Amino acid sequence: MDKIVIEGGHPLAGEIRISGAKNAALPLIAATLLTPGVHTLHNVPDLRDTRTMLLLLETFGVVWEKSGKNTLKINSTNLSGHEASYDLVKTMRASVLVLGPLVARMGRAKVSLPGGCAIGARPINFHTLGLQKLGAEINLEKGYVDVFIDDRLQGDTIYFDIPSVTGTENLLMAAVLAKGTTTIKNAAREPEVGNLIDMLVAMGARIEGRDTARLVVHGVDRLTPADISIIPDRIETGTYLIAVGAAGGEVRLTHCEPSFLPALCEKLKAAGLHLEEEDQSILVRSGTSLQSVDIKTMVYPGFPTDLQAQMMALMTLTDGTSVITETIFENRFMHVAELQRMGAMIKVDGSSAIVRGNSKDEGLHGAQVMATDLRASASLVVAGLAAKGKTEISRIYHLERGYENLVEKLSGVGAKICRKKDI
Ligand code: EPZ
Repeated sequence: MDKIVIEGGHPLAGEIRISGAKNAALPLIAATLLTPGVHTLHNVPDLRDTRTMLLLLETFGVVWEKSGKNTLKINSTNLSGHEASYDLVKTMRASVLVLGPLVARMGRAKVSLPGGCAIGARPINFHTLGLQKLGAEINLEKGYVDVFIDDRLQGDTIYFDIPSVTGTENLLMAAVLAKGTTTIKNAAREPEVGNLIDMLVAMGARIEGRDTARLVVHGVDRLTPADISIIPDRIETGTYLIAVGAAGGEVRLTHCEPSFLPALCEKLKAAGLHLEEEDQSILVRSGTSLQSVDIKTMVYPGFPTDLQAQMMALMTLTDGTSVITETIFENRFMHVAELQRMGAMIKVDGSSAIVRGNSKDEGLHGAQVMATDLRASASLVVAGLAAKGKTEISRIYHLERGYENLVEKLSGVGAKICRKKDI
């Protein structure tokens, strides 16, 4: 396994090009299952998770090729299977996104239950309850969810207790080929859901209510292949904005969408960063001092849970106290113990973490730390950029799931960061 080594204390300067969004690419790749033909997806990030999703589709008979650095041609004409094995699903719970399109296209899907992960139990009951509402039979046995319908799905009204992102995406993909109309109430409004809706509409689906919590899908009999671009990754964008706040300096992020980060941009300005949001780019400059701000993660457009760990790393560098409350997942403070090893003063109290900035004392110091999940590893990179001395981050396969060329992008703006063999 490899590790990342960072020598902290070097301000950043230059430009970083933002990649396509992991959490849009995954549902959009899955949506190619809905119809025969060759789909074209542009701005697809080359990540461990997108490679896993493509591998999963190959087991169903899908063939694909790269045409250009981040463009994929995906041919799902001949589907020969409908089972997603535990070996693949255990590495990426977003594999559950094949449920909706497979049942809509083939009337059958068998997917290993994803199981929990570092940040929580991650159940999929909203997905299965929704499919059941559309007429599918659901059998849970031997760790698999087996979904079956001997005719077409039948439109109905679905209500989500929690606006689940992949739950909304799965049910959208199931409903577009159902008979009749499906209404999804309390739907997720994340930009990645909007990107999926744009793809489905481009394929011939009829969907009303984009960007709202009430989606209405009028089922159609057939769809045609899509030619669509993946939206910029707002979590990657936010991670690099926070990194500049931690390391200091001035960086322009290009090929991004500032409007996808309303909560983060407000919080970073309140913390003292200077942001200039332009069309498709953000110029970020660190301030003379960092102010502590309180954070409460919420569904979109609230503060994203996927930026909570990175923001916590930044708040350890202030000279105040910040309260960070995680409301989406039950165990998303795995990064705290690792940040504490770098000298951070954080106290977890239930779903809140009290972060006492120690810029006046010795600040953070480099250490050997371990990545536990995707965004926790990003927070360790942010901390390493600011810490005095050398930080070594092991188990960086977590990081490679969701950040394209992170080491190259950061070293390209002056960070002293490299990958090494972790012997
Ligand atoms: C998506 O996960 C993202 N993943 C996550 O990003 C992100 O953190 C999350 O949305 C919240 O924004 C992808 O899009 C691939 P949820 P998802 O269903 O859809 C509970 C990253 O780092 N719930 O919106 O799985 C659930 O336990 C990843 O890129 C149920 O109880 O999240 C959680 O508490 C991490 N039953 C809450 O709802 C269900 O059937 C929100 O989960 C589904 C969810």
